[in-house]
Amino acid sequence: MPYQEAAEPGLLVRRPDLRSRLGGDHVTETPERTSSPALPAPHGGRLVDLTIDAGAPDADRLRHPTLLLTPQQLCDLELLAIGGFSPLTGFLGAADYASVCADMRLTNGLLWPIPVVLEVPAECARGLRLGSRLNLVGPDGQLLAVQHVEEKWWRDRRAEAGAVFGTTDLVHAGVKRLLNGPDGVCLAGHLEMVRHPRHSDFPLLRRTPAELRREFATRGWRKVVAFQTRNPMHRAHLELTLRAAEQAGAHILLHPVVGLTKPGDVDYRIRVRCYRALLPSYPPDTALLSLLPLAMRMAGPREALWHAIIRKNFGASHLIVGRDHAGPGNDRSGRPFYAPYASQELVRRHEQELGIRMLSFPKLVYVEELDRYMPEDQVPAGARAFAISGTEQRRRLADGEPLPPWFTPPSVAEELQAAFRIPHQRSR
Ligand code: ADX
Repeated sequence: MPYQEAAEPGLLVRRPDLRSRLGGDHVTETPERTSSPALPAPHGGRLVDLTIDAGAPDADRLRHPTLLLTPQQLCDLELLAIGGFSPLTGFLGAADYASVCADMRLTNGLLWPIPVVLEVPAECARGLRLGSRLNLVGPDGQLLAVQHVEEKWWRDRRAEAGAVFGTTDLVHAGVKRLLNGPDGVCLAGHLEMVRHPRHSDFPLLRRTPAELRREFATRGWRKVVAFQTRNPMHRAHLELTLRAAEQAGAHILLHPVVGLTKPGDVDYRIRVRCYRALLPSYPPDTALLSLLPLAMRMAGPREALWHAIIRKNFGASHLIVGRDHAGPGNDRSGRPFYAPYASQELVRRHEQELGIRMLSFPKLVYVEELDRYMPEDQVPAGARAFAISGTEQRRRLADGEPLPPWFTPPSVAEELQAAFRIPHQRSR
């Protein structure tokens, strides 16, 4: 059957047979379909949906003070609203925060490894008492939510960095964002959602957990393996996803982060073009692309655990965790902040409790003699293995050097090269 264009360009491709794409030798299962899908329950058992019908503007709201949300707060608010952060129904209070930092759990015992807090500048907090309300607005000035002030509390950012990131080194992008932010006051309490943040770009690719779950159910996709990424997808990524789908007998959710990633990463708008260019490389009806408005913290192992919870909320049954998942790179002495497989180890320790399975992979490298990708520890003696680092990739693109086809499918390389010819588009 020939490749069929998806009804919504870039959203999906059709045809389920991974065997034909991968060859029979290492195929274990074909993707499961059923008319009664059994996707994993959301974290905590219930999918949160904070959306309310905005209705007529509440005149009372005009009297509340206003906070312009930071990019990270905006992402956090969106995931709270759509249930990506289920079971959270609002920003953390002091007790949950302390418990998350110390034990990776909410006070009710549920796993939750990353603090999600609303810290406002001291001058904004000064006028707020318990019982006050604060209007949370987006970059276009639109009212998104009303924060009811039921708790005011203070956080110790350095202690948080030590607990969550395992370091206070400002070379770590997540630590830098945390420690360089101005000290303020944290607020918690009922979060009244007025409207979701609006995105003018790729609206059809931004699916909420409920929408994705419905989509999986409609297609009869019972097992879905999610792929987290903050990079353009190269052949190693393609191989990972195909191998994972094959191992689990699952369909594939390409779930790239389009909120905040590591400074210097390729701009998400370019990446989305790359993902779309890659989709025809999958057998039809095996892969679906949806964008995740997450503000990554680059917290390595804790972040991997968080990614698993979030993807479970979006209906995935499996998550791929490869080498150096959500790793922030090296510290000032050149040593990696986290061991390359620390993320896998932490997720594995909690896998039973998480209710989403991890598909772990060692580093895949390209072996020239065999013209294929394989785990680096299985490369035959004497064979030459290749990989290109992110830095090297960016250098090649900036210098107009081609990306070899063993590294990047030509359709993806074309998108990247076109974007890098216009320097201001490269990163965000
Ligand atoms: S991440 O910050 O989102 O983890 P990236 O987009 O590079 O960065 O990686 C996405 C996923 O692919 C992660 O699970 C990562 O471990 C995995 N990965 C990327 N490249 C490789 C590779 N060559 N071998 C094994 N796993 C990889």
